[in-house]
Amino acid sequence: MTTRLVVVGCGGHGREVLTIARAMNDVAPGRPPWHLLGVVDDRPTEENLKRLQQLDVPYLGGVAWLHDASPDVRHVIGIGDPRVRRAVGQRVDGYRTSAASLVHPAATIGPDTVHGPGFVAFAGARVTTNVVIGRHVHLNQNATVGHDSTLADYVSVNPLAAVSGDCHLADGVLVGTTAAVLQGLRVGRDSTVGAGACVIRDVPDGVVVKGVPAR
Ligand SMILES: CC(C)(COP(=O)(O)OP(=O)(O)OC[C@H]1O[C@@H](n2cnc3c(N)ncnc32)[C@H](O)[C@@H]1OP(=O)(O)O)[C@@H](O)C(=O)NCCC(=O)NCCS
Repeated sequence: MTTRLVVVGCGGHGREVLTIARAMNDVAPGRPPWHLLGVVDDRPTEENLKRLQQLDVPYLGGVAWLHDASPDVRHVIGIGDPRVRRAVGQRVDGYRTSAASLVHPAATIGPDTVHGPGFVAFAGARVTTNVVIGRHVHLNQNATVGHDSTLADYVSVNPLAAVSGDCHLADGVLVGTTAAVLQGLRVGRDSTVGAGACVIRDVPDGVVVKGVPAR
């Protein structure tokens, strides 16, 4: 069955997310999973609207467009910053549409992984075994998540970052590009791990850590 899909956000991340839906269609030409209706965004820049046009994807209007959409339409939030994604997600959760999950055909997700709605796995994302993933979690290109880890709602793992086994990333955590979180560690709610950092001890809530070792 082909499901109508709307991407929230026409910035770079949103446009990357919509190409995942297209990649999923490309590998199932007989039964494409998605009919991409277009993108909603409250404050699109002229430049991003042009970029959408180049991709031949319609701009539908502000996020409120989803409020009156048919309940069989699904949405996915194409916003990279976890905290902004959460703010938009909480608003859209009150609307009639429900969240879709997108897994790029070049991502590998362990069969015993469970994830909530709004999960997005970019090309090259790897999740091994017994991983629990919350709502609206985004794993960017070539991000890896090891065994028995938990990623709570609205976590973002940026390109090439490695979350080791037995880790716990709390709600709203951002793991920056190429960062590593070593095994068994916890990163607290709304904390940010800077690009290239190596986390070697637990990180409290609401802080930014960076460097090797991360401080
Ligand atoms: C760590 C981070 C959150 C800090 O952001 P910020 O608070 O705006 O920090 P600033 O750019 O003002 O820099 C503050 C200081 O930290 C340093 N710094 C910034 N990012 C750093 C990083 N990743 N590692 C080490 N030092 C870093 C700066 O050099 C600066 O040092 P100074 O005070 O000695 O001059 C951010 O730089 C980062 O790494 N974010 C992740 C981005 C990412 O993954 N992007 C990919 C998107 S797909």
